[in-house]
Amino acid sequence: MKYFSFIILIVAVIFVQQSVAQSIYLDELDLSAMECGWGTPEANKSVEGNPLIIAGQKFEHGVGTHAVSTFLLNLDGKGKRFTAFVGVDDEVVPEKASIQFYVVGDKKVLWESGVMKKPDAAKKVDVDISGVKLLGLLVTDAGDWIDYDHADWCDAKIELTENIPLADIVVKTKVEPYILTPKPSDLPKINGANVFGVRPGNPFLYTIAATGKRPMTFSAENLPDGLSLDGATGIITGKIIKEGEYKVTLSAKNVFGNARRELRIKVGSQISLTPPMGWNSWNCWACSVDDAKVRASADAMVSSGLINHGWTYINIDDCWEIKPDAKEPELQGELRDKNGMINTNKKFPDMKALADIVHSKGLKIGIYSGPGPLTCAGFTASYQYELQDAQRYADWGIDYLKYDWCSYSKIAKDRSLPELKKPYQVMRDALSKVPRDIVYSLCQYGMGNVWEWGEEVGGNCWRTTGDITDTWSSMSGIGFNQSGHEKFAGPGHWNDPDMLVVGLVGWGPQLHPSNLTPDEQYTHISLWSLLCSPLLIGADMSRLDDFTLNLLTNDEVIEINQDPLGIQARRIFNEDGKQIWMKEMEDGSKAVGLFYPDLSDKKEPASYFSWGEKKSAKTILKGTDIGISGKFKVRDVWRQKDIGVFENQFETEVPYHGVVLLKVVKKH
Ligand code: GAL
Repeated sequence: MKYFSFIILIVAVIFVQQSVAQSIYLDELDLSAMECGWGTPEANKSVEGNPLIIAGQKFEHGVGTHAVSTFLLNLDGKGKRFTAFVGVDDEVVPEKASIQFYVVGDKKVLWESGVMKKPDAAKKVDVDISGVKLLGLLVTDAGDWIDYDHADWCDAKIELTENIPLADIVVKTKVEPYILTPKPSDLPKINGANVFGVRPGNPFLYTIAATGKRPMTFSAENLPDGLSLDGATGIITGKIIKEGEYKVTLSAKNVFGNARRELRIKVGSQISLTPPMGWNSWNCWACSVDDAKVRASADAMVSSGLINHGWTYINIDDCWEIKPDAKEPELQGELRDKNGMINTNKKFPDMKALADIVHSKGLKIGIYSGPGPLTCAGFTASYQYELQDAQRYADWGIDYLKYDWCSYSKIAKDRSLPELKKPYQVMRDALSKVPRDIVYSLCQYGMGNVWEWGEEVGGNCWRTTGDITDTWSSMSGIGFNQSGHEKFAGPGHWNDPDMLVVGLVGWGPQLHPSNLTPDEQYTHISLWSLLCSPLLIGADMSRLDDFTLNLLTNDEVIEINQDPLGIQARRIFNEDGKQIWMKEMEDGSKAVGLFYPDLSDKKEPASYFSWGEKKSAKTILKGTDIGISGKFKVRDVWRQKDIGVFENQFETEVPYHGVVLLKVVKKH
């Protein structure tokens, strides 16, 4: 009898354990592996951190995400049922969002919601998942853009037949960062732009970018009259009065040897002969930027060694001015002084001193304003004070101005071309009156095809798109859409697909590592280099990790961006999810990016997931597609390694969302 009760007890315990343990809520899982097209997935909250609400119905449990979103779960055949309520979160404006939910089991669609918008009621999901090994939860943008696509999986629950430890369920598809580029050697090597434009009589600042063991000494032959070089730092300053082209031979010397390279200085009307390279505060600090953070960024530009690869600008974005009606005391004050000269807020106590510090390191400094009365973040902008502002920037020693449309939308009569051009021409005229070379960066998100007239209004670069974020859909959507703009770029005038989202980003003060995978980051830097885009690092400069530094310090990649011909890459192949972009280089070689972005809209739901396999695509580069017949030499630019000599075509595997970046040259 005793023995019998014991068996009953064991059976009961097993039964209780099973019936208790087999329900898992989605919000209990490690959401870091969930892909999310914007922001970060949240447990028991919407993607913006609000309570989960679909068409007025509130849910305690669930996950808030954003299209395109994928989550792959390993159920090992132990699944029973998946239930949830899905829909667009109430936090978005009606009619803007359109999303579609899918439940995919082992590559087969088990359930789909159809297109859902706000204010559709939550749809109930109840799916038999028995036998399913890998369960994929997918939210797509329903075939349009991802804007406003806030998606909720509410009360989402997986019932199992057997226990699986929570930690084993989530399939981690994220690839660890991997470094491709060898470290620079101890030998001296001169890097960065080898052509430099300056206007006659304006202050000149150029720092010889050189890698190699320190101490290093610098010298220059044929330096034009009016310039002098600091042999210990490599910083060249002064003024050249006479227009013309000067060929200077730079050298950098250390105990291991001596490197020499020619620098062409062109004194004339054009500046920015190669795309500007530097840092901008927005993608990391947004409005939490202050003097200390800018100083720290300048320090880090030097201490990280980035300056030795040609990185130059330290650009302050929005939020340095006084904010009318600000609640925060440090942002309050008189907008301008009695002469109409703009004031800084208390976070920037002395802009001139800050500019001096930045210059003393051999770097340049940039600032931000806009043609309306207010900036995008509601701070004082330049409307009707353009000349005073240009003057103020010149007095401070500013080298770069980003000029952002924003509140000018209230001033412009309409969106006709003359109205779009007008405010940019006004500031151009003001900048031309001050004795300083200030790179003029237009920011109006591509309105009126700005690339067609940005040069005409005197822009050195112009944003071709809205704001970038650190997600695949944002970065790839922007980057791969630049095709066709190439004819508008050239020395002194560049298309700008927005700033880099690598390293620690977050629109501050809280930062997070870029949501782009390592392969996506290689794609980002390769594509922006091919596109002759301004390269503005959007990261916290004082905390650059090895992977990010590796992305930003490959001189052969930078050379593609800084090539003096300034010919923007064009797309020469776009099929089966693969793309090839090619850029002509001054030395007669071709820079070629083989990409596998897999962007097609009509994708099968199953193809959004990796299913635990590493995906890549076989890609063929035909010599004739890049104008080379017969034999050609191929170099892997990220690895800085020759691959070999090929005839007619070259074939390679390109990682999913990744790139193989090549330099190809005809073999004679
Ligand atoms: C946006 C601009 C961003 C950033 C921001 C500042 O309009 O596109 O890059 O400058 O304003 O408020």
